[in-house]
Order: sequence, then structure tokens, then C-alpha cells
Amino acid sequence: MAFKRVAILSIGEMGYHFARLLKEHGVEVMTAAGGRSEVTRKRAENAGVRMVPMVELVGQAELVVSIVVPSAAEKVAAEVARAFSQSGRKGCLYLEANAISPMTAEAAGNSIARAGGSFVDGSIIGSASKLRNATIYVSGPRAAEMLALKEAGLKVEVLGSRIGQASAFKVVYAGLTKGLQGLFTELLLGARKFDLLQPIMKRYEASFPGLLDRVGGGIAALTLHAGRRAEEMAELAETYRHSGLEPVVAPATRRILEEIAALDLHKASEIGARDGDLIETLELFSRRGLLQRKN
Ligand SMILES: NC(=O)c1ccc[n+]([C@@H]2O[C@H](COP(=O)([O-])OP(=O)(O)OC[C@H]3O[C@@H](n4cnc5c(N)ncnc54)[C@H](OP(=O)(O)O)[C@@H]3O)[C@@H](O)[C@H]2O)c1
Repeated sequence: MAFKRVAILSIGEMGYHFARLLKEHGVEVMTAAGGRSEVTRKRAENAGVRMVPMVELVGQAELVVSIVVPSAAEKVAAEVARAFSQSGRKGCLYLEANAISPMTAEAAGNSIARAGGSFVDGSIIGSASKLRNATIYVSGPRAAEMLALKEAGLKVEVLGSRIGQASAFKVVYAGLTKGLQGLFTELLLGARKFDLLQPIMKRYEASFPGLLDRVGGGIAALTLHAGRRAEEMAELAETYRHSGLEPVVAPATRRILEEIAALDLHKASEIGARDGDLIETLELFSRRGLLQRKN
């Protein structure tokens, strides 16, 4: 059965493209934007998403999708759970689509379940602006019901029947993309300082064709998303610690991403767009003193 009415919390970069794709396939999309920033409200308007109060939203939606930042995932689940309780709505599907640890997913799942909702663990791998090529990975007892999103142009894959599987999958994947962004940023800033940027980029391309090109776009997007990506690395590190493993690279990646976020470089787009390229971004990082020793 295809979904006819879907709620998205919130209309960030990914929420914007998710909403537009659903709408193109005839799905009615709504959001609750109380307390959200001006740019998020504008994105909702630009995507043609109906803004309604939370209790009304959970009363009408067949599916509520959480696409926020990792640090807000539990809070949003708790708010939706409260609205489920207030409205008396039972059995509504809730798709947790953030890059969070399995422990955070479990905590979010418990509040949704206590309020009578049905929690599906999930994660999105792929770029928001190329959402048709992205895949939504899901797990949990009702995960298979997300396959209905295929009718709205999305790729969906069920990983298993347990909550936490889709979250663990995503944070381990995120460790690769963000780890490469952190590593290349550090190495290329060094190469730039030694006047070796072009030759080293040529050498990287010869040794690993296409790799820097793929990672370069992600580095340019750090001007906008470094803070959220640092949170993802915190979730990855916590996942390892919880399992008795001591992460080394994830905390280092988190640190460089936090340093970039602290530069406060760009304002978010009202149409979920990105700008900048790798070379310009490295220049910007260098001008703003990224990785400069203080004494
Ligand atoms: N962007 C991508 O290409 C991409 C790719 C794969 C997966 N994802 C996943 O998608 C999620 C969102 O990423 P994004 O790039 O869309 O981030 P984003 O552009 O920073 O948007 C985050 C959205 O969450 C909202 N938000 C923050 N705190 C909230 C709260 N307490 N309650 C409700 N809404 C809240 C923000 O609203 P305000 O403006 O009011 O702060 C904003 O609308 C992440 O979990 C990420 O892993 C994104």
C-alpha cells in the first residue's frame, strides 16, 4: 500500500528533497515547524509542504519521518510520542532516518512504542540532491512496510528485523565518508602549505582514480554540514565504546569537523542547495586558520 500522507520532521536539506520527491509522486507532505528557524520554514514553503501543529500532524499522517540532526533525534521522538498520547493515535509508523547510534535509536524507539506508535529504524545513504539514487536502509519488526516508499521513487532495503541494525549500518558507513573528508582536508591543507597541492592531487588521482573527486564535494559541503557530521562521529564512537571497542579515527574525525563547524562559514539554503568547490573551500579553511598551531 502506498502512503498518501507523510509527515517530515524537519524540512532541512534532506527533508526538503525528500518532501519534493514524495510530492512529485502525489503524496501529501506535512510538517510541524513550531520553534524551527526561518530558513527551515522557508524551505517548507518552497517545497509546498503544509505546516500544521504537531497534534494535528500525528492525527493525519500515515507515516512520520524524522530527518533532523543526530543530537535532536531522541527529543523529536519524545515530542512525537507526546503528541501520539495527546491525540490517542495508535499504530502510526515512525521512521527514524538519522545517522545515530543503535543506543539512541533504541531510546527513541522506546518512547514511540510506549505512546502506541510503531518504530522503524532507518538511515539514508546518498546525497539529498540526488535522492533518487540514494537508498533508505531499514530494520525492525515493521521495516518491510517501508518498501511502499518505492512507489514514491525511493530505493528501500530491509536489513533485518531488529531495531538498531539500520542505525549501526549508517554510522559505520558515515565513518568512511566523514573519515575521508577529515583525512583529505588535513592532507590537502598541508600540501597547499608546501606548494604541492596540484601535484599531490594529480598523484592521488593516478593512484585512486575518482576518489578525490567523490570526496571533494563532501569537503565543500563541510562549510554547511560540519557540525551535523561531527555529531555523527560522536554517535559512531559511542557505538564502538558501547560494544567494548575503543575508536581512534572517529574521535579524530569528530575533532576536525568540530573545528570546521566552529568557523561558522555558511548560511543554509532555502532550496536545499550547496555551493563551493574543493579548491575554494581549502582556501577558505586556510584563510580562516583551520589547523593552524596557536603558538
Ligand atoms: N544532506 C544530505 O545529503 C544527507 C544525506 C544522507 C543522510 N542525511 C541525514 O539527514 C539528516 C538531516 O540532514 P540535513 O543535511 O538535512 O541537515 P540540515 O540541513 O542541517 O537540517 C536539519 C533540520 O533539522 C531541524 N532540527 C534541528 N533540531 C531540531 C529539533 N529539535 N526538532 C525538530 N527539528 C530540528 C533543523 O531545523 P532548524 O533550521 O530550525 O535548526 C533543520 O530543518 C541527518 O540525520 C543526516 O544524517 C542527510
